[in-house]
Amino acid sequence: MQIIREISALEPALWSLRGKGERIALVPTMGALHEGHLTLVREGRRRADKVAATIFVNPLQFGAGEDLDRYPRQEEADAALLRAAGCDLLWLPTAAQLYPPGFATTIRVAGVSERWDGAARPGHFDGVATVVAKLLLAVRPDVALFGEKDFQQLAVIRRLVADLALPIEVAGVATVRDSDGLALSSRNAYLSAEERRRALALPEALREAAAAIAGGAPVAASLETAAARLWAAGFDPIDYVALVDAESLEPLAEARGRMRLIAAARLGTTRLIDNLPVERS
Ligand code: PAJ
Repeated sequence: MQIIREISALEPALWSLRGKGERIALVPTMGALHEGHLTLVREGRRRADKVAATIFVNPLQFGAGEDLDRYPRQEEADAALLRAAGCDLLWLPTAAQLYPPGFATTIRVAGVSERWDGAARPGHFDGVATVVAKLLLAVRPDVALFGEKDFQQLAVIRRLVADLALPIEVAGVATVRDSDGLALSSRNAYLSAEERRRALALPEALREAAAAIAGGAPVAASLETAAARLWAAGFDPIDYVALVDAESLEPLAEARGRMRLIAAARLGTTRLIDNLPVERS
């Protein structure tokens, strides 16, 4: 696996990676890698000939008072994990290279980025859309992989790629969970042992509500039960527990079409998010 820091080294590295027209997959990350990220790399291997990954803790997508400074950084361990997962190229851009002096462009995806995490974290998805657009344009992969764990982010990126007509396939990958059901996240590292136990209420509340709604239970009552369960487990504040259209992310008062149950809440100082499909039989 080739490791690149300088943006000037990227073009020659991509040139040799592509060889005679080989397909390239891109997996953008912020590091502190776990099985979720590595599953994206393996899925990239399946869908393309070569896999490139990026690690960049993007300051543009962190709000004031968020965890930019304490976000876990473990570059060497991450590089070893990527190598073992079959990654061919690792690009570690610096903020100075991606956002040189005078940088003044923001990409904002209206609509789908405005509710939920967009409302709870103002500017967050502008930061995500801007950096993802830059990474996609720099690497120009055939396919880019993103996790369903960040379901709204995936929807924002699909919209971005469609609207800018980027000739890139966006592939969503199912959420990878710990054996007890908690979605893997770099931020789980912030949880104390006690909080880690309480955190399980999040996937459990979603599973119950998804099953209830799938079975025909009223939506509002099912969401209230889920929120009450989070509250009882010590989550505070609960930013949202909602049933949404899987594409537009508009809230649904009644079950219809392709649906997703989404939730975000804070446990101590750690903000956790999760989501599940709701499949009516
Ligand atoms: P990060 O949180 O590091 O996640 C990188 C990618 O891994 C994202 O596509 C995310 O959805 C996916 N991922 C994280 N946990 C996962 C899990 N448990 N199962 C499956 N996939 C998972 O998301 C970001 O970084 C950034 O916003 C980024 C897109 C890199 C832009 O800065």
